[in-house]
Amino acid sequence: MKTLEIKHFLAAADLSADEIRKLFDLARAFAPHVRRGETIPLLQGKTVVNLFFENSTRTRISFELATRKLGGNTLNFATSTSSVSKGETLIDTAKNIEAMGPHCLVVRHSSAGSPTILAHTLAVPIVNAGDGFHEHPTQGLLDGFTIEEKLGTIAGKRVVILGDIAHSRVARSNIHILKKLGASVAVCGPPTLLPPKPEILGVDYAYRPEELLREADVVMALRIQLERQNRMQIPSVAEYSRIWGLSRERAKLLKPEAIILHPGPINRGVELDPEVADGPRSVILDQVFNGVITRMAVLASVCVPERLKELEKWMPKSTGGSRG
Ligand code: CP
Repeated sequence: MKTLEIKHFLAAADLSADEIRKLFDLARAFAPHVRRGETIPLLQGKTVVNLFFENSTRTRISFELATRKLGGNTLNFATSTSSVSKGETLIDTAKNIEAMGPHCLVVRHSSAGSPTILAHTLAVPIVNAGDGFHEHPTQGLLDGFTIEEKLGTIAGKRVVILGDIAHSRVARSNIHILKKLGASVAVCGPPTLLPPKPEILGVDYAYRPEELLREADVVMALRIQLERQNRMQIPSVAEYSRIWGLSRERAKLLKPEAIILHPGPINRGVELDPEVADGPRSVILDQVFNGVITRMAVLASVCVPERLKELEKWMPKSTGGSRG
């Protein structure tokens, strides 16, 4: 196993295609062990603190599981029961936690750039678990990994990201990762939910899903993020669902082999019909499992890069090759 040394894991924009492939290889090596309920004790004696200033189900629990499956200790920080409620700043909070000696801080914050500020201020490795509109790099990683596992390769595939692109850190991280691995990416949504010049993201765009769905190998539906909009930027949720939602009828436009992703949480009946979310094309729960093994790959690379060569003894002979 080639080693991958990353001091902090802040943005998909910072990763090279080679680094992404190495992280995929690591995740692929971990997968059979996790499926069998085995621990790979690379993080024995290490403590990872989940410093989440925003709510989370999938990301926080999968980082916690990823740490435990690597034999490490994990601690969770909840804003509501911390001294943040007494006015303590992000930097003071993080410096005080760092002083207690953890080996990694996994940070989610509503302000874009918060994990980067901490990476410049603290010595402990920082992993970005989602910062404002900016990036959600481990989500981009797990989505890319899921596409590669399901379709065999990302190179040459057409990926359509549908929904609230303007407010989506998931879209940004995915665009970086998928383009670096050779996908052709298009975004689609109401004009008010696309950036003013979508082409600066290096993607194609359309305002109506029907213009893109027939050519898609992958459709990634995004959640309408009303909490990140200063004012309602769509006429109504019902109108959004009627024109941009991935309904059963609209999903019939897709190629037979096309797959559907969603990062969660789903607004059922808004961006995805329940039948589509639970249907045979949906790989949403595969994304969730892959979230654990790709986050194991990130934590191992950040916390113990020098120990990754030990993985050879854990790897079945047939794994380790990058696809695509
Ligand atoms: N996809 C995602 O980030 O989900 P959570 O907000 O539940 O972590």
